[in-house]
Amino acid sequence: MKHTDIRELFTSPEKFVDTKVTVCGWVRTARDSKTVAFAEINDGTSFRNIQLVFDKTGMGEDEIRDVMNVGVSVKAEGMFVSSERNGFEIEVTSIKVLGTCPADYPLQKKRHTQEFLRTIPHLRVRTRYFEALFIVRDRLAFAIHSYFHSHGYRYVHAPIITGSDCEGAGEMFRVTTQPWNAEYKTEEEYYGDDFFGKKAGLTVSAQLEGEMAAMGLGRIYTFGPTFRAEHSNTTRHAAEFWQIEPEVCFADINDIIEVAEDFIKYIIKDVLDNCSEELRFFDQWVEKGLIEKLTNVIRSDFAKVDYSDAVKILSECGREFKFPVEWGCDLQTEHEKYLTDEYFKKPVFVVNYPADIKSFYMKQNPDGKTVAATDLLVPGIGEIIGCSEREADLEKLTAAMIKRNMPLDSYRDYLDTRKYGSVPHSGFGLGFERAIMYITGVQNIRDTLLFPRTVGSL
Ligand code: 4AD
Ligand code: MG
Repeated sequence: MKHTDIRELFTSPEKFVDTKVTVCGWVRTARDSKTVAFAEINDGTSFRNIQLVFDKTGMGEDEIRDVMNVGVSVKAEGMFVSSERNGFEIEVTSIKVLGTCPADYPLQKKRHTQEFLRTIPHLRVRTRYFEALFIVRDRLAFAIHSYFHSHGYRYVHAPIITGSDCEGAGEMFRVTTQPWNAEYKTEEEYYGDDFFGKKAGLTVSAQLEGEMAAMGLGRIYTFGPTFRAEHSNTTRHAAEFWQIEPEVCFADINDIIEVAEDFIKYIIKDVLDNCSEELRFFDQWVEKGLIEKLTNVIRSDFAKVDYSDAVKILSECGREFKFPVEWGCDLQTEHEKYLTDEYFKKPVFVVNYPADIKSFYMKQNPDGKTVAATDLLVPGIGEIIGCSEREADLEKLTAAMIKRNMPLDSYRDYLDTRKYGSVPHSGFGLGFERAIMYITGVQNIRDTLLFPRTVGSL
């Protein structure tokens, strides 16, 4: 269908002004009066709508009436002219309704609650809020690829179906083709008869495969969906989310912290530069001061605090927490919030966590109690990155796995990386949706995904 993208009209108006153009789109708002009618349409290429102006003396009443319904899709032809009020508009000479939109279209009103919009994920993408959100999401994905590509990383694609539980937290969704009523004497027998001949699940992290790839390619990153059957019904947990996981050989924990900070600043700057209109929208409607917050983040250094010092800060701050703080405990959302929102007031790396609350693969510090791991916490959200230097020593790694009762046999290939030419290496995982929440100010992870999957909701 020959037509011009609305985006093009706004980015190079000089090419089109005072000429005839054809545009397509959905009517977002419409206003009728005695002699003129107006309809703003959007085609998804531009966050800005273009206004169509109808001179009612020159056009059929019926034709115009059909266009006055919000949600109708149209093809319009007319003069693209500059207008004092709107910058530019189209004086319509001919209009065609492509698809009518009856009055039960749920997006009639201008503003709806997020709760309501979550009940119609298939339609909510037609609202300004979700249009802005998905424009930023798209741009962020692009910025992530461009960061790694300009820094010599190879993009690798790890399998989604896997036999190993990277985080060891038992949150894997099972993948099976077994009939539900199969009767077997042992688990082994049951899984042995399954599609892969063994127990399989959806990946919770691409890290282990990423580490193996890095051992040949030097610096890699993955960017794909990950799945966790966590029963956390919170605003920050999804059962299906996207993770960005770089893995860097010949890098220790301090090197990877530098990468993480540089990377986060780069993607924020990219969105500030390329999605200014969308960010202004979020600044106005979602988080006041958002743009200033992001600008400050790229201009200043992130904070860094030892886990032990963080525990001290929390236990001496005089605050009553629901979960008491003591050395060895995992930091809860309330603790993370205090550290980021009130104490540091900016992103902070908490480093050197107790080994017992972290995963098996993390490098064991000489103190025998902590590991070279860090979480990046940000104001308003809490953890967005989980990061560590990996234990490169075969014996120490094996000991950590035995301590956790892990089946060494299932991890033979992974252990080979430590057996054959092991090197110091480090990596991290950024939760894509959590990054989007931080950058847009959106408070619920369900509003960052096209079709969110959370516990009890598919
Ligand atoms: O801290 P996590 O569990 O770390 C890993 O998976 C490591 N293997 C990463 C690595 O070193 N390659 O998860 C990483 C990040 C978290 O910081 C969080 O942002 C996000 O993934 N995340 C979730 N996001 C949404 N919903 C969930 N259920 C999430 N679980 C983790
Ligand atoms: Mg984590």
